[in-house]
Amino acid sequence: MNSLQNPSCPELIAPNDHGDGEITLEDSTLENTLPDNSSVTTRFRNIVSDDQPRPRILLTGFTGVLGKRFAYRLAALGCEVVCPIRAGSEAEAKSRFETVFHGMQKLLPGFDESLSARIRAIPGDVRKKGLGIAPSLLEDLRGPRTRGIWHLAACLDLTETKSQDVYDTNFLGTLNIQIGRAHV
Ligand SMILES: NC(=O)c1ccc[n+]([C@@H]2O[C@H](COP(=O)([O-])OP(=O)(O)OC[C@H]3O[C@@H](n4cnc5c(N)ncnc54)[C@H](OP(=O)(O)O)[C@@H]3O)[C@@H](O)[C@H]2O)c1
Repeated sequence: MNSLQNPSCPELIAPNDHGDGEITLEDSTLENTLPDNSSVTTRFRNIVSDDQPRPRILLTGFTGVLGKRFAYRLAALGCEVVCPIRAGSEAEAKSRFETVFHGMQKLLPGFDESLSARIRAIPGDVRKKGLGIAPSLLEDLRGPRTRGIWHLAACLDLTETKSQDVYDTNFLGTLNIQIGRAHV
């Protein structure tokens, strides 16, 4: 994906845009999820313009501690966020999305329910070739409207019995993301 930036790099948007913005996940939204006095702040170019289709961001790990918050913030900034979620069907992906999205109501003051319309849940698994995304959709995601990737899917359970899952998810999964970018 030529238009995509390094997924592990916070500077995720192509450099031909209209100015700078900022994503800040305030400490209150990260309560109990980050060490004391931590915050996640990243520079973000303002890519939203009234007369253009919404820029699209691919975000993995939506159901996780960080993923849902980043997806919400990106949606609030005007992006369309596409989230591959482990699920056996579109309906299950949507159902998992809705549970997690609505769960944020308790976490985020001023929670805006309407932002769910900007987040699209699709079945996907980073361990699989093409992230397990349907080929036609994958092709579309590789198009120029996709402006960045947030790769937050990970297996954080480092117990011995999970070592294969850690390898498949954290190593192969990240490789699959990279391969997806390179082929565009
Ligand atoms: N939380 C923090 O304080 C923190 C701080 C710094 C860095 N990080 C890093 O940020 C990343 C996300 O952390 P987190 O705390 O949000 O993790 P998390 O809460 O454990 O969430 C992990 C996410 O990855 C998804 N996932 C796991 N395997 C997958 C697969 N095969 N395909 C697709 N999705 C998969 C999970 O989906 P399921 O619901 O299907 O399991 C879940 O959405 C990690 O790399 C972590 O090291 C986290």
